Amino acid sequence: MSQLGATRAAAIEAPTAPPASRRVSKFLVPEVIFGIGTLAEIGGAVRRVGGQRPLVVSDAGVLGAGWVERAAPHLAEVGLEWRLWSELTPNPKDYEVQAAFERYLEHDCDALLAIGGGSCIDLAKAVALLSGNGGRILDYVGIDRVQQPIPPMVMVPSTGGTGADVSQFCVITDSSRLLKVTIGGRALVPDISVTDPALLATMSPELTAHTGLDALSHAIESCVSDACDFLSRGYALDAIRMVAAHLPRAVADPHDLAAREGMARASLEAGLAFTNALLGATHAISHQIGGALDLPHGLLNAILMPHVMRFNAETHPQRYVEVARALGVAVDGLDARTAAEAAVERVEALGRELGIPPGLRSLGIDPGDFERFARDALADVYMTTNPRPVGEADVRAICLAAY
Ligand SMILES: [Fe+2]
Repeated sequence: MSQLGATRAAAIEAPTAPPASRRVSKFLVPEVIFGIGTLAEIGGAVRRVGGQRPLVVSDAGVLGAGWVERAAPHLAEVGLEWRLWSELTPNPKDYEVQAAFERYLEHDCDALLAIGGGSCIDLAKAVALLSGNGGRILDYVGIDRVQQPIPPMVMVPSTGGTGADVSQFCVITDSSRLLKVTIGGRALVPDISVTDPALLATMSPELTAHTGLDALSHAIESCVSDACDFLSRGYALDAIRMVAAHLPRAVADPHDLAAREGMARASLEAGLAFTNALLGATHAISHQIGGALDLPHGLLNAILMPHVMRFNAETHPQRYVEVARALGVAVDGLDARTAAEAAVERVEALGRELGIPPGLRSLGIDPGDFERFARDALADVYMTTNPRPVGEADVRAICLAAY
C-alpha cells in the first residue's frame, strides 16, 4: 500500500476514533532547519546530501530582494559549483519545467536548491523528478508514479505559506489543458528544508496576506481531512494559532521579525500537516481556477475557504470545533454548529482585515466556467480527503456562493 493509501486507510474520524488496535499512523518529514540566520547553512546542507553542482531555482522577486546574492557566499565557502535558473512564472508551467531540466542537463547538475516560494520549489521538484526518471513532467500526474530515485533536494522557502518545502507534492500547470495538476509521492519529499524567517521580510503586504492565508487553508483543510491523525492534527492546530496571532502584524509591519518568525513557523507546521493528511475541496477547486486564469493561489484559497468550511460544517461541524478554538473563538458552551459557524466568520473577518476581495467576481472570473471547474475539481487528488462528499453541483454552488 502506498504511503497515501496507508494514511487514508488509517484515518481517524474525529471525534470518534476507531479502537486503538486499528490505528496506524505514518508521518513523512524531511530534515528541518529553522531559525533566523539559517540561510548560512544552505551550502553545508547541499554538501551533506551529496550535491556538488546544484541548480539553484529562484525567481525575479527573490533575486531582486537580494537573497540569492546573499546565499552565494555560503555556497562558495563549501566549494559548490552552482548554476541559476530563474525563468519561471507563478503557477509554473510544464514547458518551464522542461526548459529548466534542459539547463540542469546542460550543466551536468547533480542536486536542486530552491530559494523562493512555492512556484520555485515545485519547479525544482519537477526537475529532480525528470532527472531521475526521464520523460515529460505530465507523465507523472497522480500519486506514487515516480519509480526511480531522484537527486538531492534542499528547499529554502521565501514566503510564509507554501509548505512545499516539506511536502510530498508538486503542483504544475498543464499549459494545454489550462489546469493545475498534482504529482505526489514520498520521492518528492525534499531532503532538507531550511527556513530562515528573515527571508519573509521582503514580501509585499499583499503577498504576505495571500501566502499567509494559504498557510491557514493548509492548516484548516488538513485538520478536518479524512486522513488527519494525531500527528498532523497537532501541527495543524498550532499553525492555525500562529496565523491568528501573527498574520495581521506581518501584513501591517513587514519588518516585524517576530511576526515573520510566527508566520514561517505556521507555514512549516501547516506543510507538515498537509503533506501527511492532505487537503480538501478548497484546494481541489482553486487548482482549477488558478490553472485556467493564472491567478494567485493564496488569494483564490482565501476567497473559497470560508464557503468550503460552511459546506463541510453542515455535515461535519464537530471537526471545526478545535479549529474555532485555535482561531481564538471561545467555544466552551457552544454547540458544534455554532462553533463551526464562528470559525467561518473568524476566517471571513481575517480576510476582510487583510484586504482580500469579497468574491471571485472581482477577479474577472466568468461563472460560465464553473461547469468546467466543477468537473475538473472532482478529479483533483485533494478532493479525496474532503470530509463531506462533493459532487459537481456542490462545486458549482460553492463557486456561486463565493462569487
Ligand atoms: Fe495551498
